[in-house]
Amino acid sequence: MNRRLFLATGSSLLAQTNPNSQVSTAIIGVGNRGSFLLSSILNQTNARMAMICDNKPDRLDKAATSAAKFNPATTTDWRKILDRKDIDAVFIATPPYLHAEMAIAALKAGKHVYCEKPIATTAADLRELLAAAKASKRVFQSGQQLRSMIQLRSAVQQIHDGIIGDVLFVKAQRHATADLDHNGPSNDWYFNYAKSGGYLVEQSVHNLDACNWVIGQHPSRAAGFGGIQLHKNEPTGRDIYDNQSITYEYPNGVKLSFTQLVFHPRNMPAGNQYIHVYGSKGSVELMSTYNLYSSDGKQLSVLSPKVQEDPDAHTTAFYDAIQKGTKSPSDVTVGATAALTAILGNEVCRQGKVLRWDELGVSI
Ligand SMILES: NC(=O)c1ccc[n+]([C@@H]2O[C@H](COP(=O)([O-])OP(=O)(O)OC[C@H]3O[C@@H](n4cnc5c(N)ncnc54)[C@H](O)[C@@H]3O)[C@@H](O)[C@H]2O)c1
Repeated sequence: MNRRLFLATGSSLLAQTNPNSQVSTAIIGVGNRGSFLLSSILNQTNARMAMICDNKPDRLDKAATSAAKFNPATTTDWRKILDRKDIDAVFIATPPYLHAEMAIAALKAGKHVYCEKPIATTAADLRELLAAAKASKRVFQSGQQLRSMIQLRSAVQQIHDGIIGDVLFVKAQRHATADLDHNGPSNDWYFNYAKSGGYLVEQSVHNLDACNWVIGQHPSRAAGFGGIQLHKNEPTGRDIYDNQSITYEYPNGVKLSFTQLVFHPRNMPAGNQYIHVYGSKGSVELMSTYNLYSSDGKQLSVLSPKVQEDPDAHTTAFYDAIQKGTKSPSDVTVGATAALTAILGNEVCRQGKVLRWDELGVSI
């Protein structure tokens, strides 16, 4: 073993056993989300920024400047990160269709991976990514930070402990007050179904994950409809829906009625995002008021009060999983289940028929 490789391997092992060491980290994609993640990594005392990648040089320069204290290497070719044996962990914040390929390659190169959601946009990619994550001895975390939020965690725990009895039905929505900017910095991928998966896969994957979490299962089948009602061919070539309505059925008989659209007026009552969980003894509103109601409609309390959330909590959870061996709150099972729920929702709308979860051929 040459000296450089020996030192590199040594530092990797140190990172996994010594919580005071710094995990050598790289990031691919420093646009909107990647910039946030980069600052969150810089807030960790046990992380060292070793390499930054983006194929847009202006973003690369800006990111390198913000991480200047580590003097990170920069590249426009993400595969260069894989060649660096001294890099222990890779964050992936590129457009969704690139996630699976990059994450699989990073896992196979022995890196821990923090992969933004959705972790894949097709069932085929998901299958390969699951196999790679399960075969590797590395930490894989999806960027589903709702799993690290104290208020939601507390509410879900109380529901699992039976505060509203059995969960009977869930009604949820993720409505936006406007379409994504047609001339914005992400319009080179967002409005293309093959690149983003559309709003359901790219955004509602968070909300669908929370619904699965509350219900404690993944759906067994779904039916639904989607379309473009307002933004027809805006921007030119657009092939993602601007509205969808999907019903999921779970093995325990629970139904989830989910809608997603981009023309919800600001301040319209009920708000643009919520999860209403109906139980045999009461009901709750999650992601909005967190109010707890008895079955006769009396508001009993706030199920879990608002707290000051730590915006870096999910990043910290990733490093804890690497260095302390704690379980990631959104491991590959969580990430894949959420992604497949969203993919199933898209497939039923596109194929115009009821589909079963197992027809997608992914075993999670
Ligand atoms: N967890 C969250 O709450 C959250 C919030 C926003 C976005 N996201 C996710 O983060 C991801 C990125 O979204 P965004 O809003 O930052 O998009 P963005 O368009 O702002 O950034 C994507 C970046 O990836 C770079 N890129 C594209 N192809 C590349 C390649 N081959 N090699 C290197 N770099 C490449 C682009 O140049 C760009 O800088 C998406 O998957 C999105 O769903 C997650």
